Amino acid sequence: MKLCHAPASPFARKVRVCAEELGIPLTLETVQVAPTQPNRDFADAVNPLRKIPALVTDDGEALYDSTVICLYLDARAGGGKLLPAEGPGRWRMLTAHALANGMTEAAVTIRYESVVRPEPQRWQAWIDDQMDRIWAGLDWFERHPEARAGATPDLAQIALGCLLGYLDFRFADCGWRARCPAVADWYATMRTRPSFQRSEPGG
Ligand code: BEZ
Repeated sequence: MKLCHAPASPFARKVRVCAEELGIPLTLETVQVAPTQPNRDFADAVNPLRKIPALVTDDGEALYDSTVICLYLDARAGGGKLLPAEGPGRWRMLTAHALANGMTEAAVTIRYESVVRPEPQRWQAWIDDQMDRIWAGLDWFERHPEARAGATPDLAQIALGCLLGYLDFRFADCGWRARCPAVADWYATMRTRPSFQRSEPGG
């Protein structure tokens, strides 16, 4: 199976980590996707939204977005590996994952707003508001040790780890470790896993 990705994308990294944790090999193809520069070939062949990650299965079917791909990979591995197959725990896990994913969306949009958007059009109050959402999410993970528990990472933890890696990569001075020491301790172990080591952003 082929994963269309970008080396800096935390969403693509989440898929790569999930695949490696599940023992599913993926071939990587770097795809150029940038706002205002439509990659029509990618849109026609894979994802009309021109967003990565997108997975092309061995049957040639395209799957997106990152959450759909991760759930597909979990099902391919037999189900119930990265999140409970059913019951309240599944919905709890999907909600924690949605929180980590939403924080990641906020971080990526801050990056676009502060680097890609032409300077006169940048909106600092909007950037601050996105950052405030990230802090609120980090505070939630700090206050919920059960969301960081377990010997192997689950879907929400993988999403959280990829967010933290992205913060280190793009917002190295934001100071998240000082504010969330328990999350920082947890991440210090998580980031040593081969699945995280082999998918460092930009690598
Ligand atoms: C980045 O360069 O920060 C980035 C690239 C692709 C997707 C998301 C973020």
